Amino acid sequence: MVHHHFGHSLKRLSFNRTLILPLVFIIILIFTIIYYESKLAQLQNLNLNLNYQNVPRLSQSSSSDHPPHNKNPDWMIPKNLLVIYNRVPKTGSTSLMGIVYDLCAQNHFNVVHLNTSKNSHVMSLSDQVRFIWNITRWYERQPLLIHGHVAFINFDKFALNTPKPLYINMIRRPIDRLISYYYFLRYGDNFRPNVVRRRQGNRRTFDECIERNEHDCRVENLWLQIPFFCGQNPDCWKPGNKWALEQAKRNLVDHYFLVGVTEAMHDFVQILEISLPHMFRGATFLYENGNKSHLRKTFNKTQPSSRTIAKIQQSRVWQMENEFYHFAVYNFNSIKERIMANIKPAQQYNDKLYYHDGQQFFFEKIRPRL
Ligand SMILES: *[C@@H]1O[C@H](CO)[C@@H](O)[C@H](O)[C@H]1NC(C)=O
Ligand SMILES: *[C@@H]1O[C@H](CO)[C@@H](O)[C@H](O)[C@H]1NC(C)=O
Ligand SMILES: *[C@@H]1O[C@H](CO)[C@@H](O)[C@H](O)[C@H]1NC(C)=O
Ligand SMILES: *[C@@H]1O[C@H](CO)[C@@H](O)[C@H](O)[C@H]1NC(C)=O
Repeated sequence: MVHHHFGHSLKRLSFNRTLILPLVFIIILIFTIIYYESKLAQLQNLNLNLNYQNVPRLSQSSSSDHPPHNKNPDWMIPKNLLVIYNRVPKTGSTSLMGIVYDLCAQNHFNVVHLNTSKNSHVMSLSDQVRFIWNITRWYERQPLLIHGHVAFINFDKFALNTPKPLYINMIRRPIDRLISYYYFLRYGDNFRPNVVRRRQGNRRTFDECIERNEHDCRVENLWLQIPFFCGQNPDCWKPGNKWALEQAKRNLVDHYFLVGVTEAMHDFVQILEISLPHMFRGATFLYENGNKSHLRKTFNKTQPSSRTIAKIQQSRVWQMENEFYHFAVYNFNSIKERIMANIKPAQQYNDKLYYHDGQQFFFEKIRPRL
């Protein structure tokens, strides 16, 4: 009875011409809504994928030779981790890079050297855009550590919605760095002993150079670590510029993940390993036990006289570079103290010692309950 009545009204409905138009309209509306809902879901999915490019992924160590790695959360390396080491010349950076090149295969990251034409430390605006665009989208080479003698570039300025890099660097006592550079130009080093250096044949010592007030030992040459941290602005490169010093300090604090000092390179390497194990696991072991084939030693370097040092220390440029150096040391030491207080007994794996520290925070009161 109900069945019959239903069929009857359906028949009546389908033949009721006045109802056909609204019905068709409703059906079209429903299909339209379904279509756009699915489009929206697709877009949301895409958006999620973009956001979650940052999600750590297990490093692809082949589980047969490195089983413990896969179980250790430290080994999750963020896919688009980007580290920039804008190394200052003559600070020991080649030694650190030797370790990085030894580690990259086993820790599953890539290393690229940035070679700027004429060794220029600043880049044109268009080159900065190309540089940032490339390294943040060079997916086959991520995770990536890129190194080169280039001044700090602020990624915020470019509003390209790119991932931001972790900057690292290492600086050195300003006079030591200049003297190393001075003798390097004349005699080279054991790293590439046969390269003919720019001042080859010039046998004057640094002291003699200072006495004669020659170009290579002018205090303006000390002005290098401040501009490297200050950046691409021409004012950064004016020796003695107070603004540049302040900007360099601000960048060090705001944009650098870690800045070590050459005089405490072992600690720098160890803190890199502890704080960024994704890339630097095993670095301390290599630093302590490596074959040191990448340690550079400048030939014929002699210590300057105290008179020479006193003369340099009178200059405003040295005083500012020295202030910056001590600012970096102070920052580094405060980071070091906090980490070293919690350093765990070294883990042993494959006869190598790895370092890590105990996590000092934990999550709690997680709601709603699952
Ligand atoms: C940088 O590139 C130039 C030109 O290709 C080359 O002559 C130079 O050796 C490179 N520098 C380094 C440090 O590899
Ligand atoms: C970045 O530069 C390298 C080397 O020139 C090139 O092979 C690569 O395709 C570039 N990547 C992008 C995303 O432009
Ligand atoms: C130093 O060690 C690296 C990797 O550990 C190796 O490739 C290189 O051949 C070694 N050099 C010497 C001189 O033993
Ligand atoms: C510089 O050092 C090299 C290698 O140690 C040595 O053969 C050379 O005689 C030295 N030259 C001078 C001027 O001291």
